[in-house]
Amino acid sequence: MSMKSTLFLATFAALATSSTFAEVTFHQDIAPIIYANCTSCHRDGESAPFPLSNFEEVSKKARTIKRVVNDRYMPPWHASPELTHFSDVRRLAEEEILLINQWVEAGKPEGNSEDAPPLPEFAEGWQLGEPDIILTMNEAYPVPAEGPDVYRNFVLPMDLPEDKWVKAIELRPSARAVVHHSLYFLDDSGTARKLDGKDGKPGFHGMSFRTSGSLGGYVPGVSPKHLPGDLARPLPKGSDLVLSTHFHPSGKVEMEQTTVGIYLADKAPTRQIQEIQIPPGFGRGMGINIPAGEANYTITDSFTLPVDAEAVSITGHAHYIAENMNMTAKYPDGEERVLLDIPDWDLDWQDNYFFNEKIILPAGTVLTTTITYDNSESNNDNPFSPPKRIKWGRESTDEMGSITLLAVPTEADDITKLTRQTKINQAKIFAQLGREFSNARILERFQMVIKFLDKDMDGSLQSSELPERLRSPLLLRLDIDKNKTLDASELKTLQDWLESMKASEGA
Ligand code: HEC
Repeated sequence: MSMKSTLFLATFAALATSSTFAEVTFHQDIAPIIYANCTSCHRDGESAPFPLSNFEEVSKKARTIKRVVNDRYMPPWHASPELTHFSDVRRLAEEEILLINQWVEAGKPEGNSEDAPPLPEFAEGWQLGEPDIILTMNEAYPVPAEGPDVYRNFVLPMDLPEDKWVKAIELRPSARAVVHHSLYFLDDSGTARKLDGKDGKPGFHGMSFRTSGSLGGYVPGVSPKHLPGDLARPLPKGSDLVLSTHFHPSGKVEMEQTTVGIYLADKAPTRQIQEIQIPPGFGRGMGINIPAGEANYTITDSFTLPVDAEAVSITGHAHYIAENMNMTAKYPDGEERVLLDIPDWDLDWQDNYFFNEKIILPAGTVLTTTITYDNSESNNDNPFSPPKRIKWGRESTDEMGSITLLAVPTEADDITKLTRQTKINQAKIFAQLGREFSNARILERFQMVIKFLDKDMDGSLQSSELPERLRSPLLLRLDIDKNKTLDASELKTLQDWLESMKASEGA
């Protein structure tokens, strides 16, 4: 290179760094933004569909990148930007979006590769490093190409000789596209093992085993994280991990063989975590029933904390037509704080948000979840066109909704009180089940059922005429004179109760 052109270049470089003439280049301006905000997902083996880890890859996608960053579709972050109390926020600054716009409009100049920042070192495979326990499904499960959603449980035996404590779990599906979500249950009875493979395919269907615990779950968009401080969840010896996975067929047969990595704590935590789900049972007790066309259907449910507690993390769950959801905390002194606000709910991004500051919720604080659904034609996420009535259900085209707060009592001993209060709150689910049970044509058939059971046709049901499974609960509640027989007036009580349930359902 001649002396003259070197000089020219030096002058040009000086000019370029002065603000008015600054040319936005990939290596100097764009790479740092992309590597810090996008590449963790946009690289081989991760969830995003294409890599963004060098000039060529980013340049090829530049137009789309410009669109998705201006829409704030990427990086994915659905909590309201006004909430600053979360850690690991994925959100670009206005100036960064501006730089991307300028770069694309200027024709995507590459710039000097000497300005290029090094590509950060990302963990290959496991996001949190090598897990303490790695479990893989014995056999792959074939997810059909079409048809309704599939719910399937898979047993991963652990044979732990002693109690352990879990800091984090990472689930790596082999067919990410079809895994809608997966919940982690524990079974210490061996029942799940016995059910496994009974129908000739890996795993088993239905919830016919009693779970002995839960370790949270995987939903798309959640990055695995360690619980903060010395917090950890119990993993009792002898437990098997049961994945309860929901598949959404993709149009082609996919083979799913999930691997799970478990990260352990080295000792038992001093305080225990409590999951507080509001409403409980993913809204099972709320009677969600959204007429076609209804654009603003709201459910709301509250829970009053019986003890002082500290908020750890928060996550929402709903299906397609949920629009927005939030949880507020109303302190005993009347002040209110928004814990989570998701203004534009997206089923594909159900992050678990960790608080980055200490949030103490004193006893008496009222936690309230509000979720709004839009079942109108104008909701692009509506799975039905024209819209249909949508009720609570497990299929992804049904609806549900709740926000779960993980909290730790300030005083370790208060955990029993807090757990008891969450159990009491779950009674809402049973009240709803009662209403649905009474609706299930049992009322119409009531007299027929009595006639069928009343073998000696005396108009009363003797204990021997009652179905064995229902005998003691029925006698306990209805046999007022304790003569081990349900006479006509006692049977009438049962009928009245069923009718009142039906009436309250209609109300
Ligand atoms: C947490 C993981 C994650 C991060 C971080 C992330 N992406 Fe993505 N991105 C995805 C996934 C998964 C998809 C595919 C699913 C989808 O389109 O929603 C995607 C899709 C895209 C698409 C295609 C969208 C379309 O409409 O075709 C673009 C472009 C994109 N990302 C750019 C970016 C950019 C630029 C950043 C950083 C500013 C970024 N992403 C950060 C996970 C991520």
